[in-house]
Amino acid sequence: MNSYDLVKVLSLKIIDKIMKTNTNILGIIKERRSVREFTDRDLDNETLKEILEAGRWAPSGLNNQPWRFVIVKNDKIKNNLAEQTSYGYIINSAPVNIIVFMDKSASYDKIKDILSIGACIQNMLLTAHSLGVGSVWLGEILKNKDKVNEILNVPTDWELMAVIALGYPVKKKRKSNRKPLRELIYNYEI
Ligand SMILES: Cc1cc2nc3c(=O)[nH]c(=O)nc-3n(C[C@H](O)[C@H](O)[C@H](O)COP(=O)(O)O)c2cc1C
Repeated sequence: MNSYDLVKVLSLKIIDKIMKTNTNILGIIKERRSVREFTDRDLDNETLKEILEAGRWAPSGLNNQPWRFVIVKNDKIKNNLAEQTSYGYIINSAPVNIIVFMDKSASYDKIKDILSIGACIQNMLLTAHSLGVGSVWLGEILKNKDKVNEILNVPTDWELMAVIALGYPVKKKRKSNRKPLRELIYNYEI
């Protein structure tokens, strides 16, 4: 193989990898891992906006869009939030945290509203991953949700749903697993 052919083959391989990573939704879903260690690299506002945009376009019952967000980059506020959870080290090491609330004044059915916010959060996690940004959904902090409202001084109608820590991932192997379909489907026939 001459050097021209070699470059061509390598380019095709790289394109193939990019296509697999960025365009196949099932690939993105399966590849995404919770990231709990971030590098010092900042997350620019363009990228952050794209992630929020994915959340904004989640489906919701009656299209009521009950999600609300607070963006936390400030070290002192991050530290105050970090004190409310045993996963505080993640909040502190992430350059950006999206604090996700449900606006109870926009709510029409609590279960459906919470499900919609789950979809909103997952949209953001997947979009982050597709952009090379690491993220993790933090729920343990809900045990101190009233304190979080106080720290962020948000309306009393806003109820904490999750914190999403975001940043560029420290490179390392991250593994996870899932139950097989046959354990999840009643009368499995596929
Ligand atoms: C509702 C919810 C709450 C979670 N809370 C936390 C948390 O407080 N701390 C944490 O480190 N990870 C938390 N996670 C991340 C899970 O541990 C993680 O998604 C799961 O272990 C599967 O790993 P994977 O995301 O890499 O596939 C939470 C995930 C969900 C969906």
